Order: sequence, then structure tokens, then C-alpha cells
Amino acid sequence: MSKTLIRNASVVFPDRVADANVLIEHGKIVAIDAPESVSAQHVIDARGLVLFPGLIDDQVHFREPGLTHKEDLRTASQACAAGGVTSFLEMPNTKPSATNQTLIEEKYALAAIKSVVNYGFYIGASTSNVQDLKAAVGVPGIKIFIGSSTGDLLVDDQESLERIFAETTLPICAHCEDEKTVNENMSRLPSDRTVADHSRVRDHRAAFIATKRALDLAYRHHHRFHVLHLSTAPEIELVKDHRNLITCELCPHHWYFSVDDYATLGTLIQMNPSIKTKHDTEELWKALVDGVIQVVATDHAPHTLEEKRQPYPASPSGLPAVENYFSLLLDRASRGECSWTQIASWTSDAPARVWGIVGKGRIEVGYDADLVLVDPTLKKTIRNEDQFTKVKWSPWNGVTLTGWPVKTFVGGQVVFEQGQIVSTTCGRRLGFDHARGGFWNTPDGIGV
Ligand code: DOR
Repeated sequence: MSKTLIRNASVVFPDRVADANVLIEHGKIVAIDAPESVSAQHVIDARGLVLFPGLIDDQVHFREPGLTHKEDLRTASQACAAGGVTSFLEMPNTKPSATNQTLIEEKYALAAIKSVVNYGFYIGASTSNVQDLKAAVGVPGIKIFIGSSTGDLLVDDQESLERIFAETTLPICAHCEDEKTVNENMSRLPSDRTVADHSRVRDHRAAFIATKRALDLAYRHHHRFHVLHLSTAPEIELVKDHRNLITCELCPHHWYFSVDDYATLGTLIQMNPSIKTKHDTEELWKALVDGVIQVVATDHAPHTLEEKRQPYPASPSGLPAVENYFSLLLDRASRGECSWTQIASWTSDAPARVWGIVGKGRIEVGYDADLVLVDPTLKKTIRNEDQFTKVKWSPWNGVTLTGWPVKTFVGGQVVFEQGQIVSTTCGRRLGFDHARGGFWNTPDGIGV
């Protein structure tokens, strides 16, 4: 395979941003201080551009198999590449739900012929598949829906949860909203509910109770646990007590939108966990910047506009985000609200470490050449019609952001440039080293 030199880029390393010449060969980074004169078949002059490690979105719903009228692994992975995402970890609530190795391997086989970026698939927990969870291999971890959402995966009885935490060894992540509280809230509210009531049904208490319950299971069974999509300020206090076991994550809609936005966006921002108050968005962003939250992921969950426009509560929960969250962060950096090294940590290094993803997450010699070149001054307005996701809409339609990916490399190959997908298949199955994985047991610890 040929050599590629990316020269004069501002390179985002874990601890600094510095000008460097990055040399790629056989899909790997082989030098970060290559002389300008080094011979290479492809030379990219990146003066004025910023080179980030490719993003790893550890929470996406790509709908294949079974729900491909909403999204499939080709359209979703193209959306990834356009957004600077070079690897994704996909959730099990497809149709059928991915609850055993055979179904997981079917997804891997589909991704091998459809995905233009790298891929991994979680195994889903049910009340009756502990043996499958114990036998699972080649997956990032186990996903538990402690509260129900899209699909029929739900484990909320204590006995099943105790068994899963006690008997399995893979890291666990969970959707934390308390089913009982949600049902009680629903029965208390009038039957002519509007979408604003979604945040009263799936309220602060529901999130807090379920997150606390999951953390208690993780502590008692000494089990690595990742809290997906935190949505409330009070949960931040809970995850501070990480005991070298707990990591957590924030999604763009939970720092960007608040209940005030239902008035203009309605069911487009109907999500599980629900959108909360302005105060929550501010506290969650602060917890991210302060290092209490380690990972930023999207929970990309596309539904067609037709489905979303049904009157609440027939409208499904979920929104597409994978191709815009990097720019939402870059825009914040352009306003001095966070740094590029923080963005690289939240979106690449931290997810690689949480799930023990082999060879990913940093721009360092020996790491895979999954990279994204960014123009930090480029201003662009998000438009529904420009989206690569099959559903062709974004809750950020009309929002102008500064800082956009201009070229995405997967394993050293250019997949996205000048607004176009330029490659068909070059993603690979991700490798997971759970013995080395886990955020807190790495020598450099949090925040690098
Ligand atoms: O709002 C959501 N939609 N939350 C989830 O956890 C699942 C997702 C989906 O798959 O639609």
C-alpha cells in the first residue's frame, strides 16, 4: 500500500496541539515528525487545517437489519464519514434484537460489505440470555435497557439484573430510566398529553433512580459499567463516585436542547432519556468540561420525518446526530468554551479506552490511521437536504456552525472529501481488548 504524508497540519495529540508531518503507511501512522522531503505517493498540504484522531461514536442505532426504511449500514456509515466518525459501536435494538452471537455475526457480515467506516456491535441483554452474554466474543460490551425505549429490549427486574452483573465479565452499559416511575408518571398525567409532557413522563426522578440502581449493581458486583446519555444535573453527583469502575457519557441533544425548545421543534427533539431543563444542559456541559463526564457520543437514532410528525405519543423517540456532533463541538471550541484536545479526548481517546478498542483513539506512531482533517474557520449551515443519513433531516436544520471536517481517513484511505463520499467499502471490524480496556486503569488516567 502507498504512503501518504499529511504535512503542516496542526495535530491534536492527547496533551497538546502541535504542527507536525504525519506519515501513513499500510493503514497505520508510522511517523509524526516525518521530514518534508520524505517520499510519499500522496502528499496533502494541510496548512491551516487541524488533524484530529477519527471520532469513535460509542452509541448509535443504525437500524439494520429490520428497520432499513429509517437507515442502513451504508447510509449511516457515510453519515459517519461526513461527520469525521471513523468507528462506531452500534446498539442491539435492531429487528431482531441482537441478543446472541449468531445475530451479532450477521450484523458483522452486513457491515463488512456495507460500512465505509469501522464497526462494532453490542450484545443486548434480555431476561433470559445470560448464557449468550457469557459466551459473547468480539463485542465491545453488553447493553441493558433498564428502561424501555425503541424496540422490545427491557430488563428491569432485580433478579435478572443481579444475574447479569454477577455472572458476566464483559463491560456493561445501560439506558437508565426507571420503568416503574415512567409508568406512574404516565398514569398521573392527563390522557391528552402533548410532547412537552414527554419530559414529565420521563422525568428527573426516573433518570436518577435508574442510574443509582445501576451504579449500585456495578459497585456490589465490581463490574465495569458505562452510563449512557446522562440527561440531568443530579446524576452528575452520582457518577463522581466512579470507584475505578464507572464511566459516563453525554449526547449533543442533552447539552444543546432544553424543554423550552419543544415549542419550536416539537417531536423532533422527543428523545429517551428526555430533554431536560436549561439548568440541566448547563450543568452537564460544565461536568463535561470539568472531566466528570468522559465520553461524548450521539445516540444517533433516526426515524423518518413522517414517523416523527405523528401526534405525540404515537411519535417515536430518537433523532439523527452522527454527522453534526463534531461540528457542534468544534463550534463551541471556536467560541473558547472547550479545547481541541478536550474534544479529541471525549470523542476518540476516551471511548477507545472505555471499550478497550485496539489501535484507536490517538495520533501516535503505531496507531491506525483513522484521522479527520478539520477546517476550523469554515462556517456552514446545517440543511436537511445535505444530510447523508437516510432520513434526511436534522434537529439542527438551519443552525450555522464554525469548524467542519473536510477530509476523513479510515485506515489511511480517504473516505470523505469536498463534501462527497469517495470510497465504497473500507471499514473493518473493531478489535476489543477488555483486559487492557477500562478508563481508569490506564497509566495516564483521566483527561491525559
Ligand atoms: O430516544 C431514543 N431512541 N432513545 C433510545 O435509547 C433508543 C432510540 C431508538 O433506537 O430509537
